[in-house]
Amino acid sequence: MGFLDRFKGDQTPSPAHSRNADVEKEKKPIVAKMGIGQRFRPHIIFMAVLVSMGGFIFGYDTGQISGFLEMPDFLEKFHDTTKDGKPAFSNSRSGTIVGLLSIGTLIGALIAAPVSDKFGRKWSIVFWNMIFCIGVIVQISTVNKWYQIVIGRWVAGLGVGGLSVLTPMYQSETAPRYVRGALVSCYQLFITLGIFTANCINFGTEKDQSARAWRLPIGIGFIWPTIMIIGMFFMQESPRWDYRQGNHESARATVARSYGFPIDHPDVNREIREIKEKLDAESGADHPWYEIFTGPRMLYRTLLGCVLQMLQQLTGANFFFYYGTSIFASIGLSNSYVTAIILSGVNFGTTFPGLYIVEKYGRRPSLIVGGLWMFMCFMVFASLGHFALNQNTPEDTPDIGYVMIVFACLFIAGFAMTWGPIIWALVGEIYPSRYRAKCMALATASNWIWNFLISFFTPYITGAIDFRYGYIFAACCFTGAAVVYFFVCESQSRTLEEIDTMYVLGVNPIKSKYWQPPEGEELPTTDNLYLTKGGRGIKKRKEAGVPPSDERQESVGVSTGGVFEASGARQ
Ligand code: BGC
Repeated sequence: MGFLDRFKGDQTPSPAHSRNADVEKEKKPIVAKMGIGQRFRPHIIFMAVLVSMGGFIFGYDTGQISGFLEMPDFLEKFHDTTKDGKPAFSNSRSGTIVGLLSIGTLIGALIAAPVSDKFGRKWSIVFWNMIFCIGVIVQISTVNKWYQIVIGRWVAGLGVGGLSVLTPMYQSETAPRYVRGALVSCYQLFITLGIFTANCINFGTEKDQSARAWRLPIGIGFIWPTIMIIGMFFMQESPRWDYRQGNHESARATVARSYGFPIDHPDVNREIREIKEKLDAESGADHPWYEIFTGPRMLYRTLLGCVLQMLQQLTGANFFFYYGTSIFASIGLSNSYVTAIILSGVNFGTTFPGLYIVEKYGRRPSLIVGGLWMFMCFMVFASLGHFALNQNTPEDTPDIGYVMIVFACLFIAGFAMTWGPIIWALVGEIYPSRYRAKCMALATASNWIWNFLISFFTPYITGAIDFRYGYIFAACCFTGAAVVYFFVCESQSRTLEEIDTMYVLGVNPIKSKYWQPPEGEELPTTDNLYLTKGGRGIKKRKEAGVPPSDERQESVGVSTGGVFEASGARQ
């Protein structure tokens, strides 16, 4: 698309920053005018907390299972017979119990978007919560059948997967643009809080020798979806979904409520116009699903999202969250539950400075430094575990065990500040709105596939190569830093439209930080192009069948004044 070259602008540092700051100010009029109290009104906080419960459920289920595997009653009821006749979990059994959740989640994540296109976001969220509850019932009613636990986890996983796509989607479609970034972070914070809470509850019940030790944490799992279901009755349908269904008045009322303005306020008008504009650009041609590969620079972006999510799992964080209790038991700790709490506490606590770091230093530096930091931590962890720890009688090398825990904590801190939250945010930012739901579902599915592979194969791999497994994660962390360096454009402080434009124009990721959008011209974005079928070509407005004098005309005039979304959508 050579004619787009003039938009490429300057990609080297230039003193044009002050000029740019003025343009930036114009693009974000509301942010400039509103105080913190106005931005985070009770309605917004209620929505953030309520919808982030989806993240909490995700984290709670992730954190729970690690402790169960070490509980005597869980072992006694669900073990299989090993060669020496002692009750133990074979690799395949523990891998299946841990991993089936991720298979359910994968399926849930893939079907959640199309289901919600049909039935709406709000009721889909209620639906997936109910599915999660069914999974909990199946698990809790198990007497001694291990496969019932597995089936229950699979069903609960469907719910978790559906929620992992839908709740961020609902947030980014409903929240005012100026809090979208914060809401994404809130979601990740709730995942880490969920893991931490599950670990604390496990710690509280593990001494109990009866089935209560694991039934109680599973049963407590009812509380979160119940809160969410009740809360959703007080929430409106997503305005974007409503508008597509022709419920224009209800969409306008929801936007007005979420901004806290009257329904005819200019900001509400602008948001509605933006929704309409995007819908117009998509109409007039058949747009098949494979446009997520054939649309403007879409193959690059779709693959990038999937690879980043794969690498997020391959950092190895869930090696600690799923098997932490067993790992630290093997290091010789008397109460490995405490270590699991420490790890998940570090994960939760360091997510807060992470929110600051990403805004201060940007996505690229944070991810590259985070990747290299995690690489270093895993190199030390793996080397100590393999060469220095006495694996048969770890009690003989207690200092080594403690140093390994320190490095595990340093690793987790690095993950929680960088790759944990930023990958989810990035994947919400790099796609144009028309493909976002599908691309995010695919990228999320990639996350869950690798989540499953790691959870299932970890017992086998550690059985075969012990702590040298850490070298594999170290290599992946290094690769992750390299992938970000070469392929990810800096999206810090950019609008979603600018980010889209950078990818469409093929701006060099390494210099992307300095890219200046052209002044006074409408940006060429995927969403304002009338694409032909398959997204391979561009049509003129008339050919696309859009009537000449609709509101779109008007919106072009105000585009530099506000038809922009702040980055951070995690839809
Ligand atoms: C990851 C999860 C992980 C969690 C830990 C998330 O970003 O996707 O797999 O368990 O972070 O905090």
